[in-house]
Amino acid sequence: MSKKRRLSTNVAGDFYVNSACIGCGVCRQLTPDVFSMVDGLFAVTQQPKEEWEKRNVFHALLSCPTAAINSADKNGLTEVMHDFPLLIEKDVYYCGFTSGKSYGGHSYFIKHPEGNWLIDASRFVPLLAKRLEELGGVDIIFLTHNDDQEFLDADLYAKRFGAKRIIHMKDKVPELDAEHLVEEIHSMNWSEDFRIVVVPGHTEGHMVLLYKKKYLFSGDHLYWDSMKNSLSAPEGFYCFYSWSEQMNSMKSLMKESFEWVLPRHGERIQLAPKVRKEAMKRLIRHMEDTI
Ligand SMILES: [Fe+2]
Repeated sequence: MSKKRRLSTNVAGDFYVNSACIGCGVCRQLTPDVFSMVDGLFAVTQQPKEEWEKRNVFHALLSCPTAAINSADKNGLTEVMHDFPLLIEKDVYYCGFTSGKSYGGHSYFIKHPEGNWLIDASRFVPLLAKRLEELGGVDIIFLTHNDDQEFLDADLYAKRFGAKRIIHMKDKVPELDAEHLVEEIHSMNWSEDFRIVVVPGHTEGHMVLLYKKKYLFSGDHLYWDSMKNSLSAPEGFYCFYSWSEQMNSMKSLMKESFEWVLPRHGERIQLAPKVRKEAMKRLIRHMEDTI
């Protein structure tokens, strides 16, 4: 019998969060109408009613890094597995299937005529790899940073596709294989559509990827916090290198143009350029106040 127990904070019904929840928020990103944070963990606070809502909750169930979401009714779950990667917009996809090694880190896929990119890595799931193969496979794996064992998932995707891994040399550890080490300290244009911006702070070699001047794959440098209705940066315990460096990196990121913030942890958001700039200014003021 499973040691995971249904949390008492769930409302009655088929879907529920169990005691394996780590509060990462992957579920809320996918289905904000169903999941809410209660007492530091997530709970089903509204049961899905329509079939499309149920499908979205299955996306969350499959993406949870600790298998903390369950349902008495799993009818249709196998079919829903084939939905991944989920289209975000145009040629940008969300991979789902987050890994416990990264505490629920998001991963993204870009389908590009000059070669497809994977940004960080999900849990290695053969079905997801097959779906990525159907979309043309993976040529480049961009690792925003390294602060744990999460590169092990990237290794599996790299082997599966023969993909080249990119990471900054400051975040390289001996057991992490990468075909391209970034040495720059500011930024570089990889190609016309891809720009790499080095943003030390969360880790010493943290990088973000700017795609088509619209999509910022922000790693653990920047994310949306819907509870505060603001752009945020992981601070305190979650800033592993330097908060003041991260503030300087945030200021330099103000020079770049983008609408989407697609983070490793935290929620994604699309903001109009003016709104995004104001939100970043507020964040920078907060960072200056907390140095
Ligand atoms: Fe991180």
